[in-house]
Amino acid sequence: MKLSAQQWLITQEEFLISSAQETNFTMANGYIGIRGTHEEMLPGEVLGTFVAGLYDQSEAQVSEFVNIPYFWGLRIYINRQYLDPTVCKVLEYKRVLDMKQGLLYKFIRVKDKQGRITKIEGYRFVSIADRNLCPMTYTVTPENYDAILNIESIMNGVVCNTEADPKERVKHFVISKMTDDKDGIYIEAATREKDYKIGIASSLQVLHEGKNAGFNRYARILGEVMTENIEVQVTQGSTYTINKYTALVSSRETAKDNVRPKAKALLDGSIELGIEVLLNKHVQALDQLWNVTDIKIVGDEQADVSLRFNLFHLMSCANEDDERVSIGAKGIHGEGYKGHVFWDTEIFMLPFFIYSNPKAAKTLLMYRYHLLDAARDNAKKNGYKGAQYPWESADTGVEETPRWGVDYVGNPVRIWTGDIEYHITADIAFAIREYIRATDDMEFFLRYGAEMFLETARFWVYRGEYNKEMDRYEINDVIGPDEFHEHCNNNCYTNYLAKWNIERAFEYISMMQEQYPHEYSRLVTKIGLAQEELDFWREVSQKIYIPFNPEDGLMEQFEGYFKLEDKLITEYDENNMPVWPEGINLARLDEYQLLKQADVIMLMHLLGEEFDMETKRINFAYYEKRTMHKSSLSPSLYSLMGVVVGDHSKAYEYFMRTALVDLVDNQGNAWLGLHSASTGGTWQTAVFGFGGMSIDKEGVLAFNPWLPDQWQSMEFTIAWKKRVLGVKITRDSVDVKLKEGESGLPVRLCDQIIML
Ligand code: BGC
Repeated sequence: MKLSAQQWLITQEEFLISSAQETNFTMANGYIGIRGTHEEMLPGEVLGTFVAGLYDQSEAQVSEFVNIPYFWGLRIYINRQYLDPTVCKVLEYKRVLDMKQGLLYKFIRVKDKQGRITKIEGYRFVSIADRNLCPMTYTVTPENYDAILNIESIMNGVVCNTEADPKERVKHFVISKMTDDKDGIYIEAATREKDYKIGIASSLQVLHEGKNAGFNRYARILGEVMTENIEVQVTQGSTYTINKYTALVSSRETAKDNVRPKAKALLDGSIELGIEVLLNKHVQALDQLWNVTDIKIVGDEQADVSLRFNLFHLMSCANEDDERVSIGAKGIHGEGYKGHVFWDTEIFMLPFFIYSNPKAAKTLLMYRYHLLDAARDNAKKNGYKGAQYPWESADTGVEETPRWGVDYVGNPVRIWTGDIEYHITADIAFAIREYIRATDDMEFFLRYGAEMFLETARFWVYRGEYNKEMDRYEINDVIGPDEFHEHCNNNCYTNYLAKWNIERAFEYISMMQEQYPHEYSRLVTKIGLAQEELDFWREVSQKIYIPFNPEDGLMEQFEGYFKLEDKLITEYDENNMPVWPEGINLARLDEYQLLKQADVIMLMHLLGEEFDMETKRINFAYYEKRTMHKSSLSPSLYSLMGVVVGDHSKAYEYFMRTALVDLVDNQGNAWLGLHSASTGGTWQTAVFGFGGMSIDKEGVLAFNPWLPDQWQSMEFTIAWKKRVLGVKITRDSVDVKLKEGESGLPVRLCDQIIML
């Protein structure tokens, strides 16, 4: 294995234990995520291994991602003495995330107290081609000694969730089986609430010059830890190879009694293929993804590599073969937000998939379709009709938001988002339309999308409250995207999207009545939608109140917002990020006009074609001065909307802030997992912002780019209406080519329409 060229690499030169780095070096394939801790399981490291969609509650407040047994443990002993890198002198060290090959490479030379120098080099990965397989391979060279090495492969069940917090700590599984299969070991965990079985089969090999070199193999059961050991006689200067094959299977995807046989069969098959073949298959599968997802920036290496880092992790989160999972706010990269799925997926991440890998986008939308009944139950429980999606979602679709948390100053606070952050329901409808518009996937629309769309529209109709005096429908007591303000009435973002959801439903209804009458009648029968009800829908949609002042062109974030104390942001820190204005009471943020994150501006991004440029400019100028960017979802939005309205002053800084959020840990919480919405935000800023990609009123794909000063060019690929387009933007040109699919496609380049 040879490492890829520099633009594909993220390198760590210093031997350190960093929980942020563990997130950055996570290996994931949409099915499993394993944090980038060291194989030796060093003190201070928090082991994290997750299976997408595998949640359990037990004593936790709500269902959470189960931190399952860690199985990438590996330790080396020299004449039975543990080669502990934290005790030895580290002579050379390097870990490299190779994004092209999707692997984590390690090189280390250490000298122990007896002066023995050992060199270890190799890599590990989780396969995208065979999602259950997680191979690793290292070579060991004793540079100045002969000895007996003991290679110990470890599967470690001594892990729990939220380990650092005694009050929140939960152990979600028991180890139900441990066996020594003579040619490998097997452990099985069973989750305590739902009794999911997680079977892990693993096998160790030690080779010298391609031949088995181990002379003594044994296994040990040590409580919740199981080891497989092989001894090998090593001589100075010779190199030995350690291969550790692992297959993981869970009862999410197979019958409980098939977990073990399946894991074993997959393990045997992988040993037969060998590490190199497994790697080739993985790299080929990854290559196909990179062909449609990579963005190349020339002239700015840091932007180029860090953007790629975001895309790498975002695509590592998706599993286009599993419709029962979606992507959590922290990816499969950590326990943050308990592995829950938010609007982050549909609004921030999904565009990346829609325009690069539509199959994965569809799978993500299917996750919501499979939970439509739960969303119906949720609406019903709260007294509405239609479907109300939960603010935080796991595997069953019930509301999973914890009721309690802590505020900025550490006080316990009631979390209201699960009760009243309703906009997620319209966000999902918005995502469905984005997908349909870009793909023309009518099969999906007719079988699944239309049903979700109509049921979400229906929810808004019944969520509206009629205000007789004003003769309007209101949506009161909500939280909009800006979570500094709770219990707001008529949040502009929520009301606008609710209205949009109902109005677009009417468009879809007319289209179906005309073009797909059979499917339409099947659908209305299924959901029990009569014409009289539609008359009511129309009445509500026409009268939903949108707080907007035509005199100054400002949308009011919610009713009464402009009456709040107005503290402007005047100071910025060294990263050009806002500093709290003086005299702010952090426990009463709802008293000020300051925002946590984009709200009105988010709306203007999503429904760009509905607002004229002047309105966008006025609102951008107003809200930008009041947005604190306390959510990582915010800077990317202001970067791209800045470009759209022609205010480029902070576009680059906001973009880099987003691109580096995990790499330099600029929010200080990368240890909790990937900022996955922000990874999608980098893509959107690059493509919708700098690339100036939008869809015009006639539905034509348009490009109106602007590049930051140091960028010479940017190249990317776009999937659009069953075609693949190659886009190249330089400082003074934009070129779009048809790479795959039928010709005859109109595209707008600045003011000119061309046919591809
Ligand atoms: C943000 C939400 C987001 C959530 C999960 C919160 O801090 O305000 O918009 O959905 O984090 O990323």
